[in-house]
Amino acid sequence: MTHGASLTPAVAHKSENLTGTVRIPGDKSISHRSFMLGGLASGRTRIRGLLEGEDVLATGRAMQAMGAHIVKEDDTWIIDGLGNGLLLEPEAPLDFGNAGTGVRLTMGLVGTYAFEATFIGDASLSRRPMGRVLDPLRLMGVQVKAEAGDRLPVTLRGPDLAIPISYRVPMASAQVKSAVLLAGLNTPGTTTVIEPVMTRDHTEKMLAGFGAELSVETDAGGVRTIMLSGQGKLAGQDIDVPGDPSSTAFPLVAALLVPGSRVTIENVLMNPTRTGLITTLLEMGADIKIVNQRGAGGEDVADLVVSASELKGMTVPPERAPSMIDEYPVLAIAASFAEGETVMEGLEELRVKESDRLAAVAEGLRRNGVDCDEGKTSLRVRGVPGGRGLGAVAEDAVVETHLDHRIAMAFLVMGLAAEKPVTVDDSTIIATSFPEFMDMMTGLGAIIERGRKAA
Ligand code: S3P
Repeated sequence: MTHGASLTPAVAHKSENLTGTVRIPGDKSISHRSFMLGGLASGRTRIRGLLEGEDVLATGRAMQAMGAHIVKEDDTWIIDGLGNGLLLEPEAPLDFGNAGTGVRLTMGLVGTYAFEATFIGDASLSRRPMGRVLDPLRLMGVQVKAEAGDRLPVTLRGPDLAIPISYRVPMASAQVKSAVLLAGLNTPGTTTVIEPVMTRDHTEKMLAGFGAELSVETDAGGVRTIMLSGQGKLAGQDIDVPGDPSSTAFPLVAALLVPGSRVTIENVLMNPTRTGLITTLLEMGADIKIVNQRGAGGEDVADLVVSASELKGMTVPPERAPSMIDEYPVLAIAASFAEGETVMEGLEELRVKESDRLAAVAEGLRRNGVDCDEGKTSLRVRGVPGGRGLGAVAEDAVVETHLDHRIAMAFLVMGLAAEKPVTVDDSTIIATSFPEFMDMMTGLGAIIERGRKAA
């Protein structure tokens, strides 16, 4: 990864009526899992619509390093997998760049193998806590060598025979749930994950699709118990990856905020564990029409027709956080243009994303004239309808992105509707999840310049 060595700033300027139709690239969560399960399953997996962001490609390279055969033919990725339990020892450290999902899920996938695998990443990933995944792996008998505080680089060596566990996930994290389930694939007996708060369910759905023996029970209080039988056979699948709702969030909020806009966003994944932002924006008064709802590859997808709207601040229910966890930075931008105050609570997980997103968002808002309060696990934003006076408070006011793609994209969206320009210190990091972002936004009419600061 070169991030950090070559930052390229970008400036977003007040724009007029964004219009057009866009198709959002594939969902990042499903794309990672497609490479992992395709590489593990016996036989051939074909993936269409895969997100070709740096994060996902790092996962593909890791699976190749462990023996999977991966090629791209036209628009289809073709994977010949090894078979469950048959991954090969990687000869070199597996480099996941900026990708938390890639590294944490792969630690689960390969941690229980009786060989050594070393995991490395960029400066952002090397700051993030890995203990949340390493703790359950230790219970399964995995030896862990890690930097202080369970940070990368991490080396894992599995036991001859892993121990099945029953694990209650201590924080709302799909990555932790998924890592334990994937570790259970190479473990005899039944691995159980108890999930008190439901998070995105792509791992469960896709494991079932690849033929794993898996059951999910939900009790009256919403607590989910997921049971997986280890050492079963997985068979290659054909996968159509729907558009990423987390990437959708950026053109969606831009279209709401830039007066006169009307944008159609096609093929958006509408899995209810991912649609919290749409629900929230509708409650804030957004004009979003959900049309052409259909099923595709076991998921619900739809097109969104978004028109510029006057938003009202609201208190976002904290229990909604898992279904919109990656969307708070851009929700904070929407809130900056809403009438009144928006209160966001239950945000503790934002502190351990690609950056401390709570701090990064609050600081970025302040540098662009937004009145906000950062709490330990909350954010309050008082909006300015029309964006009058918003944008860089001083000529040299720059948003620090801290190697976080979503901070970069959220603040560029802000600049399209603010009175004054908004500058971010880096735009190269956007390629980790949404390489098409700049072209897509400028194609809709957004004015964004790369490589220079606001005059
Ligand atoms: C993801 C889970 C979430 C999310 C991340 C993708 C996944 O992380 O923020 O972008 O694909 O499982 P946590 O599990 O840390 O909440």
